[in-house]
Amino acid sequence: MSNTLSHWLKKNSLVLLVAIIGVTPTYANNSKAAIATAHPLATEAGFEILAKGGNAFDAAVAVSAALAVVEPTSSGLGGGGFWLLHRAKDKFETMIDGREKAPLAAFKDMYLDKSSLEGALSAAIPGMPAAIVHLASNYGRLPLKESIAPAIRYASEGFVIGDRHVRLLKEKSDVIKKNPAAASIFLNNGQLPTKGSILKQPDLAKTLQQIANHGKAGFYQGNVAKKLIDGVRQMGGIWTQQDLDNYQIVERTPIYSYYKDIKVTSAALPSSGGILLAEILNILSAYDLSSLNRIQRTHLIVEAMRRAHRDRALYLGDSDFVNPPVSRLLSLDYAAGLRTSIRMDKALPSDALDGNGTMQTKGADTSHFSIIDNEGNRVAATLSINYIFGAKVVVKDTGIVLNNEMDDFVTHLGEANGYGLVGGVANTIAPEKRMLSSMTPTFLENTDHIGVLGTPDGSRITSMILLAILDFSEGHSPDSWVKLTRFHHQYRPDEILHEPNSFSETEKEELKKLGHKLKNRGYRYGNMQAVELIKSTSELKAASDPRGEGFSDVR
Ligand code: DON
Repeated sequence: MSNTLSHWLKKNSLVLLVAIIGVTPTYANNSKAAIATAHPLATEAGFEILAKGGNAFDAAVAVSAALAVVEPTSSGLGGGGFWLLHRAKDKFETMIDGREKAPLAAFKDMYLDKSSLEGALSAAIPGMPAAIVHLASNYGRLPLKESIAPAIRYASEGFVIGDRHVRLLKEKSDVIKKNPAAASIFLNNGQLPTKGSILKQPDLAKTLQQIANHGKAGFYQGNVAKKLIDGVRQMGGIWTQQDLDNYQIVERTPIYSYYKDIKVTSAALPSSGGILLAEILNILSAYDLSSLNRIQRTHLIVEAMRRAHRDRALYLGDSDFVNPPVSRLLSLDYAAGLRTSIRMDKALPSDALDGNGTMQTKGADTSHFSIIDNEGNRVAATLSINYIFGAKVVVKDTGIVLNNEMDDFVTHLGEANGYGLVGGVANTIAPEKRMLSSMTPTFLENTDHIGVLGTPDGSRITSMILLAILDFSEGHSPDSWVKLTRFHHQYRPDEILHEPNSFSETEKEELKKLGHKLKNRGYRYGNMQAVELIKSTSELKAASDPRGEGFSDVR
């Protein structure tokens, strides 16, 4: 054997082992399915479609469309997302990239004196309608009409609004009031609705019906398109019919990484999620975290997060436009290089690494759901209109809340975006470019377990998934992943962001002694939705984050 080959085999023996055992299906068909979503009615829509003979992909269409109606704060037809798929019969895996694209008239400095957070100018061209049509026609078994039907019913008959909807609406009601179309749907004569009242969205029902009848053309062409273009332009936006004509989803190969005996399948660019996870896991794979105390473990995880996030800021952007060094970032040698600067006794200040930037973090919203069906098909999907109620404007007569995803671009070089994320030229605005995302729908697989998971919350998403992966590696189940206390480091700002109950006072002192700065976010964050299949017994488990109002079940 040549030296190079034997060296490679030595270094990658674990990877090979996982590749051999991890991807070989050893499980019988499970007779049930598991669904976890951020809203009980979206979960019901998924099960309704499975009961009609649909597979996980049909259920994903139903859930995505239902969330657009029952969780309008978080995702919708006016937004986009990533749908990670695993098809059981041939093990095919893909990521449907339904991320929004910058309009043709967009340019690098367009937000120097304008808001990238509020109003129609902050909205990119939506990808969600194209993605669900693609999902239904290429992977589903049922007609789109059937899978969208529950969403249309929720929109036309109305649904009972919960605490979360009212709370988020209250946070944004001042801005919503300024947009008559949004106010007429979400407020009652300018007043906040109360929990338990019914929200009907007849215009949204009509738009959904157009998509059900005409597929992609029901949104990107014809009447709906005309209303969107006219409405957006009246509100100061720059969309044209050509933007809508040009919108295409892209199927992308997921990012694969390996940690211990776990194969991790996750989001590809334009999401930074899979690459970040791979870098962090590669760095951590040289340590035996279970032998360390909580402080040492947290310290190492934070140091790995810091380095990976620096690379996010420096290199990552839409790979259709720029050429990030993905294979380098994913390589074990690169991780080994990063590891050499990690000390057990001291945090490395982010200032000692290249790059610059400032910080701020704001409240935000998005939605994730996870599905495994009775054939073993899987979907992990994270959908977004970006911040709570996106751009906070609705296009008249369509029921569509516009996204403010343009803020995920670097709008001011060297300055932080709404999530405090800094970035470089790789993520600056260009016509038809997709903005870099943190959404990280993920599959985990080891010899006996398959996990499907994801969560909202902007730049904090990847670190929540990371903590769940480490928990999975210790043999824990979805109900544990979703409950874990959370912490996060994103290189800039140079601080560990954490939930109020993540660390004891003594632990905080110990972390500070190592040189870490800590910032209590003041509330518990994220809204993880996760399912798991145990291959040897075909048992399914499902869990929704206790921080949200999600609902998960196995039926
Ligand atoms: O794509 C992204 O990274 C963001 N637009 C996701 C926003 C988000 O998760 C907000 N969540 N609460």
